Amino acid sequence: MLLFMTYLSIFLLLCPVTLAKNHTDHLALLAIKSTITLDPQNVLETWNASIHYCQWQGVTCGRRHLRVTKLDLESRGIVGSLSPHIGNLSFLRVISIENNTFNGVIPPQLGNLFRLHKLYLMNNSFEGQVLASLSNCTRLKDLWLSYNKLGGKFPHQLSSLVNLMNITFHNNNFTGGVPSFLVNLTSLISISAANNHLDGSIPHALGQLHNLQKIEFGINQLHGMIPPSLYNLTSLTTISFKHNQISGDLPKDIGLQLPKIEIFEIIGNKFTGTIPFSFSNCSNLVKLSLSENGSTGKININFSQMSNLKLLELSDNNLGSSQPDEMHFIDSMINCSNLEMLLVHGNNLRGVLPSSIGNLSSQITHLAFSRNSIYGPLPSLIGNLENLEWLNIESNLLTGMIPSELGNLRNLIYLYLARNSFTGNFPDFIGNLSLLDQLWLQIRRTNTTKSW
Ligand SMILES: *[C@@H]1O[C@H](CO)[C@@H](O)[C@H](O)[C@H]1NC(C)=O
Ligand SMILES: *[C@@H]1O[C@H](CO)[C@@H](O)[C@H](O)[C@H]1NC(C)=O
Ligand SMILES: *[C@@H]1O[C@H](CO)[C@@H](O)[C@H](O)[C@H]1NC(C)=O
Ligand SMILES: *[C@@H]1O[C@H](CO)[C@@H](O)[C@H](O)[C@H]1NC(C)=O
Ligand SMILES: *[C@@H]1O[C@H](CO)[C@@H](O)[C@H](O)[C@H]1NC(C)=O
Ligand SMILES: *[C@@H]1O[C@H](CO)[C@@H](O)[C@H](O)[C@H]1NC(C)=O
Ligand SMILES: *[C@@H]1O[C@H](CO)[C@@H](O)[C@H](O)[C@H]1NC(C)=O
Ligand SMILES: *[C@@H]1O[C@H](CO)[C@@H](O)[C@H](O)[C@H]1NC(C)=O
Ligand SMILES: *[C@@H]1O[C@H](CO)[C@@H](O)[C@H](O)[C@H]1NC(C)=O
Ligand SMILES: *[C@@H]1O[C@H](CO)[C@@H](O)[C@H](O)[C@H]1NC(C)=O
Ligand SMILES: *[C@@H]1O[C@H](CO)[C@@H](O)[C@H](O)[C@H]1NC(C)=O
Ligand SMILES: *[C@@H]1O[C@H](CO)[C@@H](O)[C@H](O)[C@H]1NC(C)=O
Repeated sequence: MLLFMTYLSIFLLLCPVTLAKNHTDHLALLAIKSTITLDPQNVLETWNASIHYCQWQGVTCGRRHLRVTKLDLESRGIVGSLSPHIGNLSFLRVISIENNTFNGVIPPQLGNLFRLHKLYLMNNSFEGQVLASLSNCTRLKDLWLSYNKLGGKFPHQLSSLVNLMNITFHNNNFTGGVPSFLVNLTSLISISAANNHLDGSIPHALGQLHNLQKIEFGINQLHGMIPPSLYNLTSLTTISFKHNQISGDLPKDIGLQLPKIEIFEIIGNKFTGTIPFSFSNCSNLVKLSLSENGSTGKININFSQMSNLKLLELSDNNLGSSQPDEMHFIDSMINCSNLEMLLVHGNNLRGVLPSSIGNLSSQITHLAFSRNSIYGPLPSLIGNLENLEWLNIESNLLTGMIPSELGNLRNLIYLYLARNSFTGNFPDFIGNLSLLDQLWLQIRRTNTTKSW
């Protein structure tokens, strides 16, 4: 006892204002440092005995208990593995190590961190599977795993993460179907799962996720139909299933069911049927991307309420009605003052181009009508679209002179006019288009005359 008192007084004499340390946290941080092999910004140089670990760069502690609550090593160029000792930092609420090159497995010891709210691991080189131990972190709100080399299936035990709001795991190698645990997480706001190897069908039970705003499963191998229950989620702002093998028709009332939709993206699937007129009611639409499917019929959406629309992409379908006014949907686009791209190439459109094309947004940069059967003249008012960079109207049945107003389009880089039936002289305005990089003007040969 006496001996102890002596030690204690010597200690107090030497270090009168030393902050209390938790030995476990201290050791854990040193262990984390020891498995890092490259630290180009020398962040970890400060991780040494001369200062308290709560003052080390990237470390945040609770003010009273001086336990580590946050580890922030985001975008530091760090290379190395993540030590299992991280599981000893039992007061951690936030781990933010995205944008580095952490490799190896995600340590299962993270399952000890039941206070964890945010786990940001995206854009590293983590590999292997996401383990069931993470199911202990029931307070998790954000789980961001995108841009890693993770694979396999998610364990169903993760259905215990009932507080999860945002999960991102795009750009990995996950396999199996849509992870089943997702359907149980009714707090979910966004699921971002693009660019994996997910197959199978889209579960009907996803319709239980009433808070869902974003669902993104693009570039996978999903098939079957979008379950009707999904169109019941009125909070949705983003639906992206681009580049899968999904089939079926879009529901007639889609635009009334999804009043908040901003991004609707199903390019590169096997959808059939007509494009629902009810899209006309989606006044928040920014991006409508239905290209590369089997849609048929007339484009009869009324775009007059869509002042935010930037991209309309309906190309490479079987659209067309053979009615002379079938290009008149353009008339209703006068209020789309943010429109940047209008792409309807590769369909069976047979109408005449309305002169309202000249009233399209001056923001428009890309306009493509190629590979249709559009006939009649090319309206000279097209020369109003002074920000056009890409104009592709090749392989149609356009006649008359190529309007000299095209010479006003000083920003044109690509101009494709080939395989039409234009008449007249070689358009000399072309010489004014100083940015032009590619020009296609092949002659359509007929037996009687030569035409452009
Ligand atoms: C340090 O943390 C560990 C694990 O939470 C705990 O068991 C230990 O009692 C703490 N020590 C001090 C001195 O607070
Ligand atoms: C320890 O960290 C301090 C604070 O950043 C730094 O000034 C000192 O050079 C470091 N010591 C060593 C040995 O790296
Ligand atoms: C911390 O974690 C490691 C690995 O999970 C373990 O071996 C060690 O015993 C733990 N405890 C302390 C106090 O470091
Ligand atoms: C990943 O991190 C690197 C380095 O910080 C950065 O250059 C790159 O743009 C990031 N990629 C993504 C997709 O965030
Ligand atoms: C990752 O790096 C990229 C590119 O440097 C940057 O744009 C992005 O904001 C970073 N992401 C995070 C979450 O820090
Ligand atoms: C969850 O945490 C408890 C201790 O709190 C532990 O006994 C159990 O093994 C953990 N489960 C998993 C799956 O890691
Ligand atoms: C996914 O796996 C394939 C082969 O199994 C590999 O070539 C590819 O690089 C992996 N992708 C990622 C993001 O890890
Ligand atoms: C989830 O993501 C949304 C936007 O993507 C963000 O506004 C929200 O704060 C995130 N939730 C949490 C808990 O971080
Ligand atoms: C998850 O949801 C499915 C389908 O609704 C249900 O059958 C299952 O019991 C739920 N599991 C948990 C753990 O809540
Ligand atoms: C959509 O929601 C309504 C009202 O909650 C419900 O009656 C209907 O069964 C749901 N439809 C689907 C396909 O889930
Ligand atoms: C949907 O839009 C149409 C035409 O734009 C309009 O007549 C109708 O009232 C709208 N319906 C609802 C429910 O907003
Ligand atoms: C055009 O010429 C080709 C042979 O060069 C001939 O086969 C074809 O019948 C001609 N068409 C017309 C409409 O004269």
